[in-house]
Amino acid sequence: MTAISMPAPGGIPLLGLGTYPLMGEDAYRAVRMALDLGIRHIDTAQMYGNEREIGRAVASSGLPRGDVFVVTKVDPGNVGASRFAASVARSVEDLGCPADLLLIHWPPAEDDFDAALDRLMAERAKGNTRAIGVSNFSPAMMRRAQQRCGGTLVNNQVEFHPLLDQNAVLTTAREQGMVLSAYSPLARGAALKPAAITAIASRLGRPPSEVVLRWIMQQGVVAIPMTTKRENALSNIAALTLELSSEAMAAISALGTRQGRTINPSWMAGRWEP
Ligand SMILES: NC(=O)c1ccc[n+]([C@@H]2O[C@H](COP(=O)([O-])OP(=O)(O)OC[C@H]3O[C@@H](n4cnc5c(N)ncnc54)[C@H](OP(=O)(O)O)[C@@H]3O)[C@@H](O)[C@H]2O)c1
Repeated sequence: MTAISMPAPGGIPLLGLGTYPLMGEDAYRAVRMALDLGIRHIDTAQMYGNEREIGRAVASSGLPRGDVFVVTKVDPGNVGASRFAASVARSVEDLGCPADLLLIHWPPAEDDFDAALDRLMAERAKGNTRAIGVSNFSPAMMRRAQQRCGGTLVNNQVEFHPLLDQNAVLTTAREQGMVLSAYSPLARGAALKPAAITAIASRLGRPPSEVVLRWIMQQGVVAIPMTTKRENALSNIAALTLELSSEAMAAISALGTRQGRTINPSWMAGRWEP
C-alpha cells in the first residue's frame, strides 16, 4: 500500500478516483482498490449517495486519515440557507471526518450566489473542510466567486477532456489561482475513439485512455476517472509517467469544441458562458 508519488497542484493529488455512480459495496470496493494501489484522492458528493461507503473504505484501509484527500460537494438542493449547514454536518458524519475539499456542486441561483459562497466559507471556518472550491462554474462565475471568497477558492471541478474546448475556464483558473479538476476525463469512453488519439496511442504503445489522461494532467489539471477495474486503475496510474510531445499535445487539443459536453443538465441552459 505504498502511495504513488505524484504532483499535487494546490495540495490536490493530480490523479484521483471518481465514484459516481457507484453505490453501496461497489463504491466501497472501488475505493479500497484505489487506495490499495496507491491512489490517495477520492471524489464524492452528497448527490452520489455513497459518502458513508467512502468513509468506511478510507477508515478500513488502515491509512492515516491525513494521507487521503477526500473531496465532497454540496447538492444543489442543499445549497440554500435552510439546508446548507445541516447537509455538510451529515456529510462529515457519513465520511467519518471533515472533508479535505468541499465544493458547491452546481452554480447557485443568481440571487443566492454570494450568500451560498458565504455559507461555504463558514463551513471551512467551522473545521468541516480544510479547503473550499466550486464545480461547473463558468469563467465569469469563477471571477465573481473568487472575489467574494477573498482569493481563497482553490478549485473548480469541470468537465474536461479532449472533445470539449475548456480553454477559457483553464485560463481563468490560472489567472484566479485556482486548480482545475477534470470530471468525466475520458468523456465516459467517447474520448478514447478519435483517430488522432488512437494514432498517438499506437505510436507510444500505450492505450488511448493513458494518452487522454496524460494530456489532461500534463496541463496541470487534476484527473478523476471512475473505474471499478484493477487493470484500468493501474493503467490510469501509469498515465502519470507518460510524456507527450508538444506536437501530440497540440494535435489532441485541436479536437475540442464548445459543443463537446457529455454532461449538460437543463438547469445549466444559458449558464456555461461567459
Ligand atoms: N462535478 C460534477 O458535476 C461531476 C459530474 C460528473 C462526474 N463527476 C465526477 O467525475 C468522475 C469521473 O467522471 P465519469 O465517471 O462521468 O466519467 P469517466 O471517468 O470519463 O468515465 C468512466 C468510465 O470510464 C471507464 N474507464 C476508467 N478507466 C478506464 C481505462 N483505463 N480504460 C478504459 N476505460 C476506463 C470506466 O469503466 P470501468 O469501471 O470498466 O473501468 C467507466 O465506464 C465521476 O465518477 C464523479 O466522481 C463530477
